[in-house]
Amino acid sequence: MSGNEPASPMPAGGLLGDLRALRADVLRFLETVPRQRGDVAPLRLAWYRAVLLSHPEHVHQVLVTDCARFQKPPRFRRAARRICGRGLFANEGPDWRRQRQRVQAALQRLDLDQYAGTVNSVVDQTLAGWPRDGDQEMFGLLVRLALAIRASTTFGTRSALPLTDLAQATSVFMDYFVHTFRWPLAWPLWVPTGRNRRTRAACRTWWRTLRQAIEVAGTKNHSVESLLDALQHPDTEADRLTSRQLLDELATWVLTGTETLANTLAWSCYLLARHPAARRCLADELDRTLGGRPPMPADVARLPYLESVIRETLRLFPQGYMLGRKALEPFSVGRQAFPSGTAVILNQWFISRDSRWFDDPLAFEPRRWSDGLLERLPRGAFIPYGAGPRACAGRMFARIELPLVLAAITQRFDLELSPERAVRPLPSITLRPSPALPIRLRQRAQVPNSGAGGDT
Ligand code: HEM
Repeated sequence: MSGNEPASPMPAGGLLGDLRALRADVLRFLETVPRQRGDVAPLRLAWYRAVLLSHPEHVHQVLVTDCARFQKPPRFRRAARRICGRGLFANEGPDWRRQRQRVQAALQRLDLDQYAGTVNSVVDQTLAGWPRDGDQEMFGLLVRLALAIRASTTFGTRSALPLTDLAQATSVFMDYFVHTFRWPLAWPLWVPTGRNRRTRAACRTWWRTLRQAIEVAGTKNHSVESLLDALQHPDTEADRLTSRQLLDELATWVLTGTETLANTLAWSCYLLARHPAARRCLADELDRTLGGRPPMPADVARLPYLESVIRETLRLFPQGYMLGRKALEPFSVGRQAFPSGTAVILNQWFISRDSRWFDDPLAFEPRRWSDGLLERLPRGAFIPYGAGPRACAGRMFARIELPLVLAAITQRFDLELSPERAVRPLPSITLRPSPALPIRLRQRAQVPNSGAGGDT
């Protein structure tokens, strides 16, 4: 650390310091602070010392090169534990490492083509029940679709989870997270405020439903390769999970894998509805390549525009828009030094909209990805699934689910944004569209299923 300058003096700002501006408008805060104070911006969030990092190289340092010096913030872990127990997302240290190895070993046992077949059949059934024409609250439809996919792939195709209850519980959790992170003086959950009562009721529904799902799946002799199957049949006895660990891992999977999927699909639909030329281009590519049949994972490499639409959505609306860590020891970034205990905020929202890395950064331009941009970007500039040892454990499934679902929606429907209401991102642990996503659906004329390119 010698030769480093101490962190610049704490910013002023009354009792709350920077927390006042952060609470008022998180995304605006993430955009303005780096412009005013640079890529390494010391903050004071009430009595917490923090730093906002807005350069890709520094993000890479925290998540990858120096990752052992940081962990997820304890406040965040405490809140997440109510909903995910000690599953991967909210765990730390040697316990997390062991769990991550076990889950990864279980995931290797899944047959990805069978997995994609399950996703396609859930999507097919669900879209058949969508209205053919008219204004819809699309986000609600997508949350239920994402939950149905997660339920079938996690517990098996015959699972019958009460999706509406789970969708409501997830909304309550997101509201709880928004409140807890913005307000360090938030009442602990046992204090009977209205929000706390709603959150505790949602937790009871959540855990009861997941326990029942495990019991039901366990008593049926279903043959589907679900995550539950894979976790229950480890290769070695040492990898066997206790029933509590199993429950926590499945709760983690359902929460993390549903919220991010629904949100990313929602933002893709929003962007396609706002950009008819891009929507037509995507529909043409799908018709030409698939001729009306559902895509399989092997098709994705032959659908470059689809892949680019998804990348562009993840760039403009990154679900990990602000990743948090806490320093376990003193560290330095650039030429500034920070003490142990500093909260570190990685500003992915700003980085993925920064003109230093992306031309015309606010434009939705899927074609920017067609000439090798991904390889040219500095590391840390586009990491929609995080990076380093804590990167997304479900990314290989997201990379199957996102293209399959978006292709199926585009093959069947034209999307148009209903003009009356503005849609904004609601920053919680993820980025939801708010207050809703009003979209006009119109069923497209069916392209005959000619089996085009049918080598899969
Ligand atoms: C669009 C889809 C997705 C996006 C953008 C996404 C993004 C992320 C990000 C950025 C992280 C890292 C958070 C951090 O470093 O603090 C993460 C972690 C995680 N994600 Fe995802 N995710 C997606 C889908 C999924 C799916 C489908 C699953 C499971 C089915 C999943 C399971 C997880 C888990 C378990 C973790 C915690 C890993 C750990 O800490 O060991 N994610 N995700």
